[in-house]
Amino acid sequence: MGTRDIVFLNGEFLPAAEAKVSVLDRGFLFGDGVYEVIPVYGGRPFRLEAHLLRLDQSLTEIRLANPLTHRRWEDVLTDLITRNGAGDQSLYLQVTRGVAAREHAFPLHALPTVFAMSQPQLPPEPSAQAGVKAITVEDIRWAHCHVKAITLLPNVLLHQQALDSGAAEAILVREGEVTEGAASNVFMVTRGHVVTPPKSHLLLPGITRDVVVELCTEAGIPCSESKITVDALRRADEVWLTSSNKDVVPVTHVDGLPVGNGRPGPLWAQVSDLYRAYKDAFRRGEVH
Ligand code: PDD
Repeated sequence: MGTRDIVFLNGEFLPAAEAKVSVLDRGFLFGDGVYEVIPVYGGRPFRLEAHLLRLDQSLTEIRLANPLTHRRWEDVLTDLITRNGAGDQSLYLQVTRGVAAREHAFPLHALPTVFAMSQPQLPPEPSAQAGVKAITVEDIRWAHCHVKAITLLPNVLLHQQALDSGAAEAILVREGEVTEGAASNVFMVTRGHVVTPPKSHLLLPGITRDVVVELCTEAGIPCSESKITVDALRRADEVWLTSSNKDVVPVTHVDGLPVGNGRPGPLWAQVSDLYRAYKDAFRRGEVH
């Protein structure tokens, strides 16, 4: 057994191989649940309160009460981090509507299933610095993309479509406007101005996105939250993707055409340095 095998399931810590969920779980049968991914740096969960607030919002949207208080989540996740060797990790947590006879209607008495695990943080791929390719695809998802729902089939299919075409991510477009990536938020830079689409039901309010907006604002880099048309994206000087797993990744090609000069841009380099410094300060306990 490795050092990252201890998971939390319904009040218990146990090895992953021993953690079992019923085939009647509504997460399995209906995708009836929500999740979070929380990076851990130096043994500390990054932006924990923001992640727990987003979990609350997702649960409210699916009309499920949070089975744990924030205090209890903090204790559970802290314990999980320690049991999995502290340091840098990636936490995954999931809450489903629980185990019940298969009926679409909400069950009257089911207890939510509460699951959390730790995964190793992926080492940054060389492409994360050199830049990645992206394709634009029609956003075929539902109209509640602000909910971090476990029903990720459209995201999986769109992301795989990108990989199959030799790109690293699919940038999703609805009625001519960019919403987000299949598993990331999108930024563009035009003439020194950073733009990301405003929060709405069409995209996930990414925690990394918020940190990047904060860092730009503090550094005096012009940054606004406004709509991005696919045409504007194609003309942008820089395009970035953000997520808890990958931080800020520069996109060098969209649909096979170079973004700017086809190399990671200067604002990306600046913001990426700021992000790294912020994470390091967090690791040292200097920021919360
Ligand atoms: N996904 N948009 C979508 C659709 C996402 O799935 C994610 C992250 C983001 C970025 O959000 P954040 O900065 O809070 O990670 C935006 C996670 C990492 C995942 O599903 O694995």
